[in-house]
Amino acid sequence: MSWRIVRSSLTGWTEPLSDGGGPTEQSDGRILHLILDTEHAANALSESVLEELDAATEQFDPATTDAVVVWSAKEKHFIAGADIDEIDGVHFPETATAKVAKAQAIISKLADTPIPTFGVLRGTCLGGGLELALALDYRIAVDTPTTKLGLPEVNLGIIPGFGGTQRLPRLIGIRGALSLILGGTRLPATAALRRGVVDIVVPEDGYVSCALIAIERVLANDTAIRKRRKKFVGGFVNGLLERNPFGRSMIRRQASRQIAAKTGGHYPAPPAALDAVLRGFATSLPRGLAIEAELIGPLVASTVSKHLIAVFRASEEARKLRQYSDTPEIEADATVGVLGAGVMGAGVALQCLCKGLAVRIRDLQLPVIAKALETIGSHFHGLVQRRRMDERERDATLSRLTFTTEPIGFAHCTAVVEAIVERMDVKRAALAEIEPQLSPDTLFATNTSALSVSELQSSAIRPERVVGLHFFNPVSRMPLVEVIPGDQTSRETVGKAARLAVAMGKYPIVVKDSPGFLVNRLLMPYLDSACRILERGVPGPYVDRIAEAFGLPMGPFRLLDEVGLDIAIEVAGTLHGAFGDRAEPSAILPQLVEKKLIGKKGGVGFYRYVNGTPTEFNADVTREIPQTNDLPESLSVIHYLLDRLIDEAARCLEEGVVASADELDLAMVMGTGFPPFRGGPLRYADSIGIPGIVERLQERADSGEACAPCAHLIEIGKEGREFHCETKLART
Ligand code: NAI
Repeated sequence: MSWRIVRSSLTGWTEPLSDGGGPTEQSDGRILHLILDTEHAANALSESVLEELDAATEQFDPATTDAVVVWSAKEKHFIAGADIDEIDGVHFPETATAKVAKAQAIISKLADTPIPTFGVLRGTCLGGGLELALALDYRIAVDTPTTKLGLPEVNLGIIPGFGGTQRLPRLIGIRGALSLILGGTRLPATAALRRGVVDIVVPEDGYVSCALIAIERVLANDTAIRKRRKKFVGGFVNGLLERNPFGRSMIRRQASRQIAAKTGGHYPAPPAALDAVLRGFATSLPRGLAIEAELIGPLVASTVSKHLIAVFRASEEARKLRQYSDTPEIEADATVGVLGAGVMGAGVALQCLCKGLAVRIRDLQLPVIAKALETIGSHFHGLVQRRRMDERERDATLSRLTFTTEPIGFAHCTAVVEAIVERMDVKRAALAEIEPQLSPDTLFATNTSALSVSELQSSAIRPERVVGLHFFNPVSRMPLVEVIPGDQTSRETVGKAARLAVAMGKYPIVVKDSPGFLVNRLLMPYLDSACRILERGVPGPYVDRIAEAFGLPMGPFRLLDEVGLDIAIEVAGTLHGAFGDRAEPSAILPQLVEKKLIGKKGGVGFYRYVNGTPTEFNADVTREIPQTNDLPESLSVIHYLLDRLIDEAARCLEEGVVASADELDLAMVMGTGFPPFRGGPLRYADSIGIPGIVERLQERADSGEACAPCAHLIEIGKEGREFHCETKLART
């Protein structure tokens, strides 16, 4: 049983709820408390939880009951959402629509009862959880850091299906609802109050008593709440715009434009959500619910949703760190030492501060430190200006940052992350200088892009504490961190490094200490293919456009310019040294770098830049290249770009550079922006068929390119398997 159903009064409680406390059963009590406490799992609105709720509604008798109150006994969440496994298991639109309609009918029983209903929302209240809450008469949110309310279904390729697209606009207006639904926004308790999603906020301390007092008051008189709600739906502007068809068609046009610009037409859920909201608003609630159920069917069954769910699952898994469950979490007030205040050091420091950690930063050059402090300071100043933080919080955050030009004051650090110049001798010297003062269990993490962690740790006093922690640039925006154990790194250190990444809000993936690690190794054949396709006479801007239309955040030439052609050459050189012919870089990059055309930072690369914005493709690039235009018509640009990446991914899997296809896909989504709706390069490969990829690579190899497919890829293709079939089998 997931629900505890207790008839009681508004007094006689034992707290806290999460420890088996709660209302004392009183057979003549006039309050019906429904407490969700799913055993050994998070509270989710699964079919069985809904069925139990359905049975509980039998007890809704106005003659004996003054109020129904829904609670969660979990400490960190009210209801985390619908059951993702159940959504993922549905493959036909009609099945999805029927299941959703059934759930809607149960939830509507809460909405339709004449008994006043309340929800006490503490912790995560997302998706189906918020939809259930929206069906209640009154919502009381508990002001804790974990309380987050939202309808993030579009992030999973579906729309809210348990009435969210219907009840939210009726509560807070169309535009308010659209901004939450289309943005997948998660609101803290006070923001939810400001936006009309909840009616009352109570403090964390003694929240049960506060909520009970609030319920008693509302039962006595709810005029204030009714009046407040009018602000959101009944006002003059809303009435004028949202309550007439012309206003709504204006909203539709505007929102459609924004959706198209944001999704490039690759994600069907946001337009469907818009449709559900607008069509539902113009009709009765029951009809609106039917529209919602109808629209969600094809989305649940779509490949886009299956891919987004797979990426979501992998990302949750990455943060759970199951294999390191014995490694303690990073303490909330831990200090992280950062060596190097350049691009990456400043980024790592800022990210730590954003997540509440303290930072001690060292650089040899005071002006570099000054610049880092300015960047960090202006970030928090911006938050204050945008009212995301108050001045007191900003000052408290900045007081957690100290800096030095000397190698002193790192003894108390939980971890030291080095982000200094990419040279083994310099990194070794920095390690030797700092290590003697560190406590025996302090982690020393190197942010090297390509140097060997094993080589670095070989000179350490405590090599078992040295690990690679490869952040991506810009640190604040790139969610991936590669965790790289060297030969002597202890398992505990790997766990601690991964936990540090999680504490910094990142997704850690453990990868082998091998050239290019994982992401850069996979990116190179893709970028090199782009250069080679240019050599074959295909125009650069066209290649970029095709890559962007595929869903990549930017085309390969824009990306090369962003990274810097000088850096790209270095990485390519490392990979060439390690992997031989198949990684031999095209001649284009050295030619451009020789002419000092190094990309965006130099003002010219493949494109010309004015104030950091690309204005035109650099015609000099193609002038230097013999334009042979010999790409066979059968070879699409996107296949040409991605086939070698997929082959390299197969090699990485076989060599154990990464443990699973799921992690590889996640790393590419989080580390390069590979389109999530395609599920990552290996899910994409599965979807287009491995034999075709093998055949194309073989054709290219036959015509002289060093890109013969690897044995692992050939074998998967021959046996008719998929990269992810093992994952699927394991789950079934
Ligand atoms: P950067 O050149 O911007 O900064 C390096 C800083 O280290 C300089 O300010 C220098 O004064 C300082 N430094 C040198 N020796 C030092 C020492 N012993 N103690 C303290 N500071 C010292 O370099 P960037 O781009 O931040 O790269 C740093 C590391 O991060 C490199 O290993 C690089 O390969 C890696 N990395 C860089 C990425 C990027 O996109 N820039 C991405 C991922 C990793």
